[in-house]
Amino acid sequence: MMQLEGKIVVVTGGAGLLGQQFCGAIAAAGGLAVVADRDAEAAAAVAAAIGARHPGRAAACALDITRKDSIGAAIAALQQAHGRIDAVVNNAYPRNGRYGRLFEDVEYDDFCENVSLHVGGYFLVSQQFARFFRAQGHGNIVNMSSVYGVIAPRFSVYDGTTMTMPVEYAVIKSGVLHLTRYMAKYLKGTGIRVNAISPGGIFDGQPESFLEKYNALCSGKGMLDKQDVAGTLLFLLSDASAFINGQNITVDDGFSL
Ligand SMILES: NC(=O)c1ccc[n+]([C@@H]2O[C@H](COP(=O)([O-])OP(=O)(O)OC[C@H]3O[C@@H](n4cnc5c(N)ncnc54)[C@H](O)[C@@H]3O)[C@@H](O)[C@H]2O)c1
Repeated sequence: MMQLEGKIVVVTGGAGLLGQQFCGAIAAAGGLAVVADRDAEAAAAVAAAIGARHPGRAAACALDITRKDSIGAAIAALQQAHGRIDAVVNNAYPRNGRYGRLFEDVEYDDFCENVSLHVGGYFLVSQQFARFFRAQGHGNIVNMSSVYGVIAPRFSVYDGTTMTMPVEYAVIKSGVLHLTRYMAKYLKGTGIRVNAISPGGIFDGQPESFLEKYNALCSGKGMLDKQDVAGTLLFLLSDASAFINGQNITVDDGFSL
């Protein structure tokens, strides 16, 4: 039931840490993964690598989630090539060069820019794909949120590191969750469903002192590996979740409990 036989799935930010895993899992499940990224070269490389393992199951697409014309061009090209699009995964992670500062150090302009790029981009992609999906008669939108869209930050895990949980991220990811509910309700009855995934932290070479504190708050594994979220995405993209709409699934090895 978790198979995606023939489904055409666009993954924004498909060339990134999680995006690559998602695209590989979609292809392995029998779908066509469209690696849609602002970094066209990286998208082409990821699609080529997946295509080598799963011939004909990956394609690259240059896409900027903050530009309506870019999204429109991608939708038109995919419709032309395949006649339909089954799903889009809002997974891109846009941020400017000053993202990730301590609360006191965040400038107003940077706050606004980072929130706009990220939750604004997720809105724009969702709006434009929903228009297409409505005309098509079906569609599936999965939004990547975060455990930090669900719970208040656990700042203590960052003690002794230069890392923090950016205030913009809390605003963005909680916003993504409510955008999910809003759209699911607004589009109810149109054949389009909208759900979210809220992962905990993904291991990516973080400092040992951070890992120790983080992992102690989990059930056993601790920080997830980048491939640990793909099963939940496949579930939400597949017919196994056909009647799940407007929901969020937290995948965090118990960190938020
Ligand atoms: N990595 C984690 O620990 C973690 C945890 C929870 C949630 N998430 C969420 O998962 C998603 C993916 O995160 P990641 O860690 O894989 O990110 P990443 O930084 O590794 O990759 C993000 C990708 O988005 C692309 N991108 C940036 N701006 C873009 C734009 N305007 N248009 C199109 N593409 C653009 C980048 O080129 C990059 O390939 C994000 O929504 C993130 O918030 C990540």
